[in-house]
Amino acid sequence: MSVLSVHDLAVETEHARLVDGVSFSVKARRTLGLVGESGSGKSVTCLSVLGLPPRGVRVTEGHILFDGDDLRAKTPAELNALRGREIGMILQDPMTSLNPLLTVGRQITEMFRYRDGMTSRKEREARAIELLRRVRIPAPESRLHSYPHQFSGGMRQRVAIAMNIACNPRLLIADEPTTALDVTVRLQILDLLREVQAERGTAIVLVTHDLHLVRRYCDDVAVMYAGRIVEQGPVGDVFARPRHPYTKGLLGAVPRLRGPQRRLTVIPGQPPLPGSIAQGCRFAPRCPGARADCMSAYPATRTIDTHRSVACFHPEPDERTAEALLMTATS
Ligand SMILES: Nc1ncnc2c1ncn2[C@@H]1O[C@H](COP(=O)(O)OP(=O)(O)O)[C@@H](O)[C@H]1O
Ligand code: SF4
Ligand SMILES: [Mg+2]
Repeated sequence: MSVLSVHDLAVETEHARLVDGVSFSVKARRTLGLVGESGSGKSVTCLSVLGLPPRGVRVTEGHILFDGDDLRAKTPAELNALRGREIGMILQDPMTSLNPLLTVGRQITEMFRYRDGMTSRKEREARAIELLRRVRIPAPESRLHSYPHQFSGGMRQRVAIAMNIACNPRLLIADEPTTALDVTVRLQILDLLREVQAERGTAIVLVTHDLHLVRRYCDDVAVMYAGRIVEQGPVGDVFARPRHPYTKGLLGAVPRLRGPQRRLTVIPGQPPLPGSIAQGCRFAPRCPGARADCMSAYPATRTIDTHRSVACFHPEPDERTAEALLMTATS
């Protein structure tokens, strides 16, 4: 059974639907990559799943099942309890999950006190040190007394991860957790998450716009465009043979890691603003393969190859594309 399974999620403001008909699921020990240009609804989706939609935004349709239990039926207090224990979250700016006024040691030890009822301060500190060592914070004994602003961005993100590891979550939602960090630190942090996942069997949703990271760390990928998932499936299959023109465009826009640089095919144009396209495929204004029927209705999500799905009236031919070959050959 899936740890998280989202069915037909719709998230709206008073004026527009930001997320529409989104469905995906993640099993234990699996990582789902959620990709798409900025503004496609990745964060709104994650925050809604966590029960923390942004101000003025609410979930209006769908089911969010955690271990088969609908999170939409939970009270705010129940959700809050789940978030500290069963469901972890790592956001782009770790400062949002750390208290700037308390030392890092204090934040971790207080968590052990309130959540686990550990009464001995010595014990709590020993456990905090062990935890910081685990996420490879150098000299953890002395770092316990530092404030979050005294850490570098990468170290702060490690602290946020440490607190999440301590919760031993069954589900971890990581929304661009490493975007602000340099490449080496980025890989270290993701390796660390993978280590924890292997140990604890955590199901992970990883939001990133870096397709190389998806290739390296994710089992499955869901491609979002303008509030919808346009293509979904195992990373190897989707990257080798993208069927949605948008996925193909994204893969074409990936710089090569090695070898001669080729010209990047950046998808021309901008994604539409929420609510601005009333009818038809939302990618049509930018789609090189758009035809008349694409404007008449939104293409339904169809299953292809059992494990994959695509929402397009005229999917790309089922063959390895030049971009895909480069992507698989170079990453
Ligand atoms: N609080 C909000 N009120 C109104 N619109 C919002 C709010 N938060 C996000 N949006 C809009 O929802 C869309 C999706 O945003 P977001 O989920 O942050 O995209 P992504 O994370 O994929 O970059 C964007 O068009 C954004 O402007
Ligand atoms: S439905 Fe039509 S416009 Fe939309 S992605 Fe497919 S071919 Fe392009
Ligand atoms: Mg975002």
